[in-house]
Amino acid sequence: LFAAETDFLKGVVAMDGLPPADRVEVCFAGRSNVGKSSLINALTGRKALARASNTPGRTQEINFFTTTGGPFLVDLPGYGYAEAPLPVVEKWQRLLKAYLAGRATLRRAFVLIDARHGVKKVDEEILTLLDTSAVTFQVVLTKADKVKDKDREKTLAQVRNALSKHPAAYPELILTSSEKGLGIPTLRATIAGIE
Ligand code: GTP
Ligand code: MG
Repeated sequence: LFAAETDFLKGVVAMDGLPPADRVEVCFAGRSNVGKSSLINALTGRKALARASNTPGRTQEINFFTTTGGPFLVDLPGYGYAEAPLPVVEKWQRLLKAYLAGRATLRRAFVLIDARHGVKKVDEEILTLLDTSAVTFQVVLTKADKVKDKDREKTLAQVRNALSKHPAAYPELILTSSEKGLGIPTLRATIAGIE
């Protein structure tokens, strides 16, 4: 997962637009603004590979990135963006469900959770969807640089407790900061180990 080896492949808005399932892939899910695009940029060492922005709901497509000899990295549209029009939300929910349930080469979903907030009700919906789609998921806590040391254990405990109710959850959490580079090597190694 080095910068020179990673490229944007395409943005997908419907199932028939998915690239051929000819290699393993991992996806990144999480509420709008949780830091999905920033994390992909940090992972690949390319600052503007996935667009990151202050405007929630910015990533409106399933974005595929290629890594030479490695998996597809898939940036999913953020959920829980209250201001998106209902028909738009419903369209994305349908696409997300179809993708999660129907993509045979999807090995793991990384679900991003803000390290300040823990697992919220909107996150629970996607965790349940991953359970029912039988997609193993692993929680990546984001924006760790914004959490005070004394609050960290509290959030971790809350997240572990929430995950204990989800059969598809992978028990190990990864604490990250895209801003500071914290946890990025660990996440890279984790992805590299997925076959
Ligand atoms: P959508 O595409 O809208 O779903 O958002 P996203 O999940 O891709 O979030 P994005 O990466 O665009 O980041 C949202 C905001 O959070 C941006 O202003 C980022 O700069 C900020 N951000 C992301 N990661 C970090 C981090 O590790 N630390 C800090 N302090 N800010 C971060
Ligand atoms: Mg994004």
